[in-house]
Amino acid sequence: MCGIVGYTGSAAASPILIEGLRRLEYRGYDSAGVAVQRDGALHLVHRTGKVDGLAQAVEQEQVAGTCGIGHTRWATHGRPSTANAHPHTSCDGRIAVVHNGIIENFVELREELEAAGHTFTSQTDTEVAAHLVEEAYAEQPDLVAAVRAATQRMAGAYGLAVVCADEPGTIVVTRKDSPIVIGMAPDGARVASDVIALIDATRDVTVMGDGELAALSPDGIVYYDAAGRVTEPKITHIDWDVDVAEKGGYPDFMLKEIHEQPRVIRDTLAGRLVNGTLAIDELDLSVEELNLIDRVYVIACGTSYHAGLIAKNLIEGWARIPTEVEVASEFRYRNPIITPTTLVVAVSQSGETADTLAAIRDARCKGAKVFGITNVIGSPVARESDGVIYTKANKEIAVASTKSFLGQVVSLTLLALLLAQVKGKMRTNQIRLLFRELADTAEHVEAILSDTSAVEEAALACKDAVSALFIGRGMGAAISYEGALKLKEISYLHAEAYAAGEMKHGPIALLDDGFPVIAIATQSPVYDKVISNLQESKARGAMIVAVATEGDEEIRKHADHVIYVPKVRDCFSAITASVPLQLLARSIAVLRGCNVDQPRNLAKSVTVE
Ligand code: F6R
Repeated sequence: MCGIVGYTGSAAASPILIEGLRRLEYRGYDSAGVAVQRDGALHLVHRTGKVDGLAQAVEQEQVAGTCGIGHTRWATHGRPSTANAHPHTSCDGRIAVVHNGIIENFVELREELEAAGHTFTSQTDTEVAAHLVEEAYAEQPDLVAAVRAATQRMAGAYGLAVVCADEPGTIVVTRKDSPIVIGMAPDGARVASDVIALIDATRDVTVMGDGELAALSPDGIVYYDAAGRVTEPKITHIDWDVDVAEKGGYPDFMLKEIHEQPRVIRDTLAGRLVNGTLAIDELDLSVEELNLIDRVYVIACGTSYHAGLIAKNLIEGWARIPTEVEVASEFRYRNPIITPTTLVVAVSQSGETADTLAAIRDARCKGAKVFGITNVIGSPVARESDGVIYTKANKEIAVASTKSFLGQVVSLTLLALLLAQVKGKMRTNQIRLLFRELADTAEHVEAILSDTSAVEEAALACKDAVSALFIGRGMGAAISYEGALKLKEISYLHAEAYAAGEMKHGPIALLDDGFPVIAIATQSPVYDKVISNLQESKARGAMIVAVATEGDEEIRKHADHVIYVPKVRDCFSAITASVPLQLLARSIAVLRGCNVDQPRNLAKSVTVE
């Protein structure tokens, strides 16, 4: 969703802000703006649409200066418009703020500020922050103190960066439940809501904690804790490749990220089997505590929820622990049965999904141990969980999750194996064998990626459809849900997924001549049942695309298009079978002329409810 950048130093601010905003584009946004200090004033530029438009305007208006802030906005309060684009300013235009999150009490604050004589020019919640800082600054002309005083009035979530025309070269930043990272580079200090926006300048960053505040200047950064005391920053070194933000010869980030998946599998598994025993020390639970676990909830949203569906099969199958998978937005508002022996596994690529975070807090309040699986170091999910596994996908830029999903599935598979090990449900040699086969999936995915001709052929056959049905059973059902989500989100082709056994209970009514049915028909204990479902679909004229196991010639009798994947155990079929579905969704989206990396209306991190 929204993105924040800021720079103060010796170089021209505008190109740095624009480049930072470009790097945040992947998060999804509908307008953008900058505020740059110059000659004792603030120069503001806002545009709706893409950062390119803002960049042109900044150039035309010759926005000069060496200190400024910028923002990409994803509309929540007020439609996408120039007036609603950030930065927002105080009445006198001398204070400008950019904000991520939602100020929940903005209506009452706005009424109070209007009654006190403040004039508002936008419909946003953010604008109250600018006026609150203005009020506080009038009482005590010190930007750090004014920002602190303003945030004490604000309820909700915020990542905030503030500049003031009267304090040249200073940016004050603070946060609550919305990420802010800061780094000092040779040419000055930078701030961003996402490390991707400053990684080309410095790899040593500080991830701010809730309530902390920092004042950036060209000479350095002063950090304050929540009580207002000056503190020493905790520096985190980021070791990703800088080219994570480049397409590396691929036409889009999604394809690049799909091709990174063998590496993700290898990195996620590296160092996990020590002397034949699984090692997940980050779990921070003793063997005794793990052994007591008698119920698991996997909570997540979207694609991460689908990774949870796969985990349910594995945890119940191997460790024999009852496991429920719930979308976080439901979990947080009901009263789930949680005891001290409940393990809640929160899965989130971004580590900042609002519903997942709220569910974590709720679960911990009720006494559960919470284990996070996330891709982002130092993210709120990582910080607020009792233990965390990082998925090693590295930064994912395309909005549609691919490599992170695979990283999640592999991490959850490790967790399931660990629980089976601790519960004594599997012998050591069994675990070793499964671990080896899990590691082998990296090569299998490489093989799938080396020849995508069958996928391309199926994509051509599906591209003009108005709707598609994904079906499977067992693991195949879980994979179907993810396949359907991938297709609809990037190609805008309506797709839904069903457990194949449900066909006769409703969805079969949809089928008609040429209606695409995409079936997960890999070798499994329920293979024959899936074939029956294909026959029923075929009899109604459906066009069948089957994802099947190499060597299965029988399937050709039932399917119009077959995409083969290497033979693996059913428990690992999610890893292999989901890759062609990712490729299929992308190819259909490309054929339909869609923006694969930035689908409409979607944001990479859903930081609001
Ligand atoms: C779809 C997709 C989303 C996310 C969902 C949760 O491709 O990426 O459905 O999976 O918004 O996001 P995280 O995993 O960041 O909590």
